[in-house]
Amino acid sequence: MTADVRSEPRPRRAVHSAVVRLTHWINAAALLVMVTSGWRIYNASPLFDFHFPDWMTLGGWLAGALAWHFAAMWVLAVNLAVYVVYGIVSGHFRRDLLPVTPAGVWRDLKAALAFRLPHAAGRYNAVQKLLYGGVVLLICLAVASGLAVWKPVQLQALAALMGGYEGARLVHFCAMSGIVGFFAVHILLVLIVPRTLPPMILGGTVREPETAP
Ligand code: HEM
Repeated sequence: MTADVRSEPRPRRAVHSAVVRLTHWINAAALLVMVTSGWRIYNASPLFDFHFPDWMTLGGWLAGALAWHFAAMWVLAVNLAVYVVYGIVSGHFRRDLLPVTPAGVWRDLKAALAFRLPHAAGRYNAVQKLLYGGVVLLICLAVASGLAVWKPVQLQALAALMGGYEGARLVHFCAMSGIVGFFAVHILLVLIVPRTLPPMILGGTVREPETAP
């Protein structure tokens, strides 16, 4: 007698692996420190005709803000390297964040705006894939342009790619703005679908979806 394969339980998989969860929260904390201390550093020599309010900044004064910025920089850079190497080696990027096609993004964006986009735990829609991949690239750009601003003589070639020291400052500011913009949209989406939050903190597994016979 043969067993009915359809009655066999489907395998379970982690919603978010421990490495993704750990690097996600370290990244979020490091970015919070980087951005708020960066605003204080910006205030000492603004690029544009505005200042960030003091209460939104970290460090108290320029030297304090620089100390916070450089301390968090190492945490951000090492953590980012761990996340990217893990994402490539484990297949997480290939499996969960790729591919992203313009047609898929357009389709899912229309469905999301009409509140008709279902959310399956641990499965990202095309808009999420675009946002997550995009913010990881923006963080890489923020680190690269930050290095060019920090060491414009030693890293001349890198600074030259961004149009020199002033260009690198502008790129650094734009990367920061993109990350802050991502953060606002990301938090809004978590508030709209709050059940995505516990698995990002606590982990957990889900059954693989039913595959067609
Ligand atoms: C600037 C700070 C942040 C960045 C750059 C960021 C970035 C990301 C990225 C790249 C992912 C996908 C991770 C992967 O699967 O590889 C993700 C997922 C997620 N993040 Fe964040 N995040 C930030 C802050 C936060 C905060 C503060 C919260 C909570 C309030 C949060 C909640 C989540 C949740 C719940 C998911 C999973 C979404 C789902 O399963 O659909 N994130 N985030």
